[in-house]
Amino acid sequence: MKFFVDTADIAEIRGLAAVGVVDGVTTNPSLVAKTGRPIREVVKEICEAIEGPVSAEVTATEFDGMVTEGERLASIAANVAIKVPSTWDGFRACRALSERGLKLNVTLCFSANQALLAAKAGAAYISPFVGRLEDIGLDGMDVVRKIRAIYDNDKSFNTQILASSIRTPRHVMQAAMAGADIATVPPGVLRKLANHPLTEQGLASFLADWGRTGQAIR
Ligand code: E4P
Repeated sequence: MKFFVDTADIAEIRGLAAVGVVDGVTTNPSLVAKTGRPIREVVKEICEAIEGPVSAEVTATEFDGMVTEGERLASIAANVAIKVPSTWDGFRACRALSERGLKLNVTLCFSANQALLAAKAGAAYISPFVGRLEDIGLDGMDVVRKIRAIYDNDKSFNTQILASSIRTPRHVMQAAMAGADIATVPPGVLRKLANHPLTEQGLASFLADWGRTGQAIR
């Protein structure tokens, strides 16, 4: 499973990219708003820092506006993936922009049927929002499992499952087990993946024992 990092914070992206765990980046209007910077500038900078796909989202809600904004976002860099919402206009814009050779990420997906429509519309990525489904008491990972089964049943689909709204390390593991192709993970959660108290305790006792030997590895 690939990791995308779910942020528009360039310092965070560069830090994680240096560890080699960033296969791409996802942004959304809220994440870009948090930077306080112009979207073109932010997306361009991220695209220069990362070789993989960088999702940038349209804010128009009807077809013509989505297509215009999608083309503008795509003109920023070759690795931009255009995000459109899981609405009828979004699916239509997905079809139109995909046919022009652009990569589309259909976002705000909360059901397997929306994912089915996205695949039929030629999306490169479908983004089921696991955490937001759990916020309303539903099983977010069950939607990921259903999408996996649906996509595996139709070999003509060429859409990757991008598990989104990932809030915990447990979500990351569950997404990998459910067959997600990618998980987009906030930087704080990504960093937590390495943590285990037994690793810390084990390391401390190894170093204490080693210190008593007076040796150095030369
Ligand atoms: C995905 O592309 C979205 O940016 C993101 O995963 C949403 O996460 P949230 O529900 O924690 O805001």
